[in-house]
Amino acid sequence: MSKEKSGVSRQLLTKEGAFTSDFEWPLTLLVDKGLDGAVTNKSRVGYVDGDKGRLIYQGYPVEVLAENADYEEVAYLLIFGKLPNEQEYVEFSQNLKANRKMPVEVVKIMDIIYDHEHSHPMSLLRTAVSVLGVLQKNVMDTSRENELRMGMHLIAILPTVIAALHRLRLGLKPVEPDLNLKHVENFLYMLHGKKPSARDARLLEISMILHADHGMNASTLTAVATSASLSDLYSSIVGAIGSLKGPLHGGANEVVLKEFLKIKSVDHVKEFVAEKAAKKEKIMGFGHRIYKTYDPRAAVLKKYASKLNDEVEMFKIAEVLDREVVAKYGSRGIYPNVDFYSGIIYRHLGFEINFFTTIFAAARVAGWLARILEYRAENRIFRPRDVYVGEFNKEFTVREKRP
Ligand code: CMC
Repeated sequence: MSKEKSGVSRQLLTKEGAFTSDFEWPLTLLVDKGLDGAVTNKSRVGYVDGDKGRLIYQGYPVEVLAENADYEEVAYLLIFGKLPNEQEYVEFSQNLKANRKMPVEVVKIMDIIYDHEHSHPMSLLRTAVSVLGVLQKNVMDTSRENELRMGMHLIAILPTVIAALHRLRLGLKPVEPDLNLKHVENFLYMLHGKKPSARDARLLEISMILHADHGMNASTLTAVATSASLSDLYSSIVGAIGSLKGPLHGGANEVVLKEFLKIKSVDHVKEFVAEKAAKKEKIMGFGHRIYKTYDPRAAVLKKYASKLNDEVEMFKIAEVLDREVVAKYGSRGIYPNVDFYSGIIYRHLGFEINFFTTIFAAARVAGWLARILEYRAENRIFRPRDVYVGEFNKEFTVREKRP
């Protein structure tokens, strides 16, 4: 589909590099905008079944993991390919706990550069990871053992950075991690300075499990492509955070909630959809490159969002919008994606809207690491091509003579 839509007509790249449109273009030179359909690797980490709306991590349906596992188990599963036994679980959790603390340099830098009006938390998170990479020793040791060591550091520390940013924004002091708490419980504890209810911790955990991996999406490709040049893990994660930030990717969750607030009440949903259609604008939180049916993650999040007594109005708007958009565009394969219902849950948990995508990053870092390690096992640098459609042999004019 994208081949016809690419906007570049079929042309042949001749031996001399010039083009002629008189020949059939070899298949390998078809422009695939967005690498639609390109396959980068064989993977065991996870599978996205876009027709049936299934998501699998290392053989397990994501819904089963969301119901039964915790985030530590899922991160272990993605990275090592099996669920941990008791001893492996304890060691893995201890390792994460030992990596939670944020270096004082990072807090200081964040405090200095934080401009409350203009700094987006995803930009600050990206910068914090970059600083962490500067402070790390042996970053260029590309052995699996060292990548794993640094990966554990990143999985452990992202919630600490996010919680600290949240508190700095409110003029509060960051809260030290509590080593008696599990990964997700501690995340909420550092955010609010008090132990979360078991229900809230579980809600965030389910969401983080659902966001932990998702095939060769834009941020994962960015991470893997950066790593494939044998660059360091921090650089890969900096790139991935930058990619995830965009509203076509993880940044959609933030825009979705802002749109719910703009819609204000269920009575305005129809009008909102009609307006978007008239302007030929996309509705955020819908559509997906792979899923042509309901995103299974959205279905789970919808179920949990529907139970939140403090978010009844938001949920009503979401549900009606879901119905309207599916009625209008469902036949074209446009359904709610993971970013549609997640924001309602994050708002309930006390996150500000512009922090939503940071939670996605804190969850996805396990998938980024798993995919990097998997690709690195049989590494090859990325080098797709583009098709030159410019001119040849243009005459050079000195600056003074240029029009
Ligand atoms: N609302 C209305 N129309 C849509 C939407 C939408 N949300 N998404 C796609 N379409 C239409 C689009 O206009 C195009 O129509 P046409 O063929 O007439 O030009 C057709 O569907 C194909 O869209 P596309 O943009 O070429 O599809 P893509 O595979 O390149 O993009 C997407 C996938 C997720 C970027 C896109 O669906 C989108 O922009 N959705 C809104 C943003 C969003 O919710 N992003 C989160 C994605 S899921 C989680 C994540 O990655 O973080």
